[in-house]
Amino acid sequence: MAVLVTGGAGFIGSHTVVELQNAGYEVVVVDNLSNSSPKSLERVQEITGKTVKFYEADILDASALDKVFAENEIDSVIHFAGLKAVGESVQKPWEYYHNNITGSLVLFDVMKKHGVKNIIFSSSATVYGAPAEIPVTERCPKGEITNPYGHTKSMLEQMLMDIQKADPEWNVIILRYFNPIGAHKSGKIGENPNGIPNNLMPYVTQVAVGKLKCLGVFGNDYDTPDGTGVRDYIHVVDLALGHVKSIEKIKENPGLKIYNLGTGTGYSVLDIVKNFEQATGAKVPYEIKPRRAGDIATNYADASLAKEELGWVAERGIKEMCEDAWRWQSSNPNGFEA
Ligand code: NAD
Ligand code: UD1
Repeated sequence: MAVLVTGGAGFIGSHTVVELQNAGYEVVVVDNLSNSSPKSLERVQEITGKTVKFYEADILDASALDKVFAENEIDSVIHFAGLKAVGESVQKPWEYYHNNITGSLVLFDVMKKHGVKNIIFSSSATVYGAPAEIPVTERCPKGEITNPYGHTKSMLEQMLMDIQKADPEWNVIILRYFNPIGAHKSGKIGENPNGIPNNLMPYVTQVAVGKLKCLGVFGNDYDTPDGTGVRDYIHVVDLALGHVKSIEKIKENPGLKIYNLGTGTGYSVLDIVKNFEQATGAKVPYEIKPRRAGDIATNYADASLAKEELGWVAERGIKEMCEDAWRWQSSNPNGFEA
């Protein structure tokens, strides 16, 4: 039996494929390569020494998905495929709703047709909006979401809950990620954003490698210890291992489960700059800029439910996250392009 990983050529997907293969799972990947390179899967194979069965296909294409399910004995799906740039989603809502919502509905339909009723879904801490309590537990109500990307996550969570309610044979595990950073220890795979990065860590590494001049710190007047925004940064390998634990959990027919995947520790923007400089010896010049629209002061997880029920905890600290992000960026300054 195999695990189907949609979006498996991407940042979190490629790291998850490595950990699934390391744990002995057979993996099939579907990705349309709209935000990734086929080289990432070649690198995965170099790391694990195992073959990844790859279909270059779009989740919007029902007949392509049908073929994948017909040709493989799939028992669970980990669904990463989606567009994820918050700012772009505000400019292109149609594309985001079509790709993320319609694409997922096509996937769910094909799963149903083939009697595959186990799914792990990539959601985000973004569904909490400005969280009602910190650290954020899964019981915390969903908050006001300010962009179409976040809406797609929240809507897809709801659709999966409704599907599971209508047919309790479905097992749905919704994983709400906090801020994934870092890279595989080998330096062979990592985050490879198109254009100028929106997220903090890829911006920091690109300044350090000399591709960008100076980091803009978005606001230093928040109600936080040093005035800059505080987030829960989690090593992408820990996040990947959370998916392996979820695949084990899904075999118990758990019905519907929702877990936060974070470390439970918050770091400010300036903490990240300081830790990165210390861990790598690289310099990150920065200047304070105005706040970014839609940002909140503080967000970090209570991840105790994942510990209790999945037996999962994030083990890699901030130093390792910085070292590993830097190894990837400095040995691949242009990502997967030579
Ligand atoms: P990514 O862009 O690196 O990976 C997503 C992959 O999906 C890409 O390889 C892309 O080519 C593929 N894809 C997109 N649309 C597709 C389609 N229609 N058909 C087939 N493949 C398609 O992003 P990531 O950082 O690895 O994120 C993976 C998932 O986790 C996404 O759903 C994202 O929204 C979610 N998530 C990411 C973060 C984060 O900070 N990276 C945080 C919370 C949630
Ligand atoms: C952002 C998204 C969130 C998404 C998440 C994925 C927004 C408003 N939110 O979260 O929906 O799920 O990415 O990881 O875009 N910062 C700077 N300078 C930069 C970049 C970021 O100071 O150049 C600061 C931000 O203000 C924030 C922190 O760094 O305080 C982290 O930012 P980022 O990496 O973009 O993540 P989030 O905003 O938490």
